[in-house]
Amino acid sequence: MYYPEELVEEIRLKNDIVDVISGYVKLQKKGSSYFGLCPFHNEKSPSFSVSRQKQMYYCFGCGAGGNVFTFLMEYENYSFAEAVKVLADRAGVELPEGDYSKEAKERADLKMTLLEINKLAAKYFYAQLKSEHGKAAYTYLKNRELSDETITGFGLGYSNKYSNDLYRYLKAKGYKDDILVKAGLITIDEKHGAYDKFWNRVMFPIMDANNRVIGFGGRVMGDGKPKYLNSPETPVFDKSRNLYGLHRARRSRKPYFLICEGYMDVIALHQAGFTNAVASLGTALTSGHASLIKRYVDEVYLTYDSDDAGTRAALRAVPILKEAGITARVIRMDPYKDPDEFIKNLGAEAFAERIGKARNGFMFGLEMLERDYDLSTPEGKTAFLREAAKRLSEFEDEIERSNYIEAVAKAYRVDKDELRKLVVKTAIQKGLAKPAGRPITTVQKEKTKEDGHLKSQRILLTWMIEDAYIFGQIQKIIDVNDFTEPLYRTVAELLYGQYEKDALNPAQILNHFTDEEEHRRVAELFHTKIKELSTAKEQEKALNETVLRVKKHSIDEQTRNLDPADIAGLQKLMADRRALQNPDKLHISIN
Ligand code: UTP
Ligand code: MN
Repeated sequence: MYYPEELVEEIRLKNDIVDVISGYVKLQKKGSSYFGLCPFHNEKSPSFSVSRQKQMYYCFGCGAGGNVFTFLMEYENYSFAEAVKVLADRAGVELPEGDYSKEAKERADLKMTLLEINKLAAKYFYAQLKSEHGKAAYTYLKNRELSDETITGFGLGYSNKYSNDLYRYLKAKGYKDDILVKAGLITIDEKHGAYDKFWNRVMFPIMDANNRVIGFGGRVMGDGKPKYLNSPETPVFDKSRNLYGLHRARRSRKPYFLICEGYMDVIALHQAGFTNAVASLGTALTSGHASLIKRYVDEVYLTYDSDDAGTRAALRAVPILKEAGITARVIRMDPYKDPDEFIKNLGAEAFAERIGKARNGFMFGLEMLERDYDLSTPEGKTAFLREAAKRLSEFEDEIERSNYIEAVAKAYRVDKDELRKLVVKTAIQKGLAKPAGRPITTVQKEKTKEDGHLKSQRILLTWMIEDAYIFGQIQKIIDVNDFTEPLYRTVAELLYGQYEKDALNPAQILNHFTDEEEHRRVAELFHTKIKELSTAKEQEKALNETVLRVKKHSIDEQTRNLDPADIAGLQKLMADRRALQNPDKLHISIN
């Protein structure tokens, strides 16, 4: 803990969660809670709830949840210390300048200053575009068929021909050289002094999901090189975790994103009404991008350039997206180079048709594979199908594999049972499957079982937090050590402590976890979905089963870890196990 816990708690209490979140989300009171559209995923009807009484928020749609610190960490991408600092400022609470907190405060201050500078620069570039100096740039954009509305909407601008006018402008605003260098807008060298990074270029401000300018791309208005110059990575600009256009796409309320390659593609698509387009800015799609996307949608359409590089990029992106649980389809842009040119030539309707004809990512991969074989000869087709079977054998989920076998059989006119045999044979050759055809490997089985135990422990903690009466009964059966996962055990320890003092307060427990990853996991823990069971009787049954399951797993674990010489320990475990045989004594009632 870097700040004293009491201080963090004071800051939390002084920042009412409903007031803070109201600054970001329009909330309406319904019963004892407030509801609004969830800022963490796309939705049409409000499932995001904020409770003033509990000082927690929770989205019934995507499962996001936590206290007021969690909210700022999620929404603003702050670290825990940054969130504490911002809320301390908001409530007028003075923070001590301890070693670490000083560092954290400086980092938060630096980020805020960099964002301020970026915003000023974006406004400056925009003003230049609209001024006399910017005529050529404005004409360039007009020639690329952008409307004034689009230009303003994306905040496009112009960095003019003087080599250091932005530098002078920002200096006049009081910023020091070193911070301007950190913002990536200025370069300083001994010979030339300070000069602007962007010079005589059309400027594309890059916004994060929350509309803050985090960097820039600048395009030459002609054939100069490099075509685009981009801001370097800075404390606020991480290319692998941001997507161009996301701030608008996330509000598009469509269940999928269109992912393309360039600035102009995104802008052209938005202008044509496809407001769910984003771009990965010339870099390959990373798993960071994928998990960012997954916050908003489960499905994407890749509309990469139709050249070889674009095709390869699409093929590489498919498995990365799949890994994150996102379904990918591929849209072809031929005979045009990219979405921008496609729309210019064929219009929005034709693009919508292409969306309709999008190829599933796997099938697209096979289509590209076709190019390497001559399917008109029996040898060529056989060799192709062998390779296809190899890829099919890599699906771990049997149903999915079976569906794809059918799709491939249909597309390439082969008998599906023959193809299935070929896939099994390939799998055996590769040692992926046992000849007996066991569907799941032991390792996987163990893993799902372990996940199940953790889920049971989470469910129990959610119940306990929700209801002090139930807590009272559970704590007679389950003790802190029955939570086998270390993080859950820590949470349980804190909760049991609060219960003893008759002061259950989960929002406070979250303060304890300052590491972002842990904080998120604990926030999640408090909102584990308890299967929606209709009757109280069903709920009660499920709860009792969960309690027994957690207890039994704990005894199993303890038995496994028991020192063989520990006779007393063994006797206790045997007694515990016997007690489990008598569920009547263990029964919990929910009201
Ligand atoms: P493209 O070369 O496909 O450019 O690069 P584009 O988007 O079609 O641009 P226009 O239509 O010619 O203006 C795709 C993306 O790759 C990055 C940019 O993000 C660009 O939008 N890129 C490209 C660079 O960062 N630097 C470059 O020199 C070129
Ligand atoms: Mn282009």
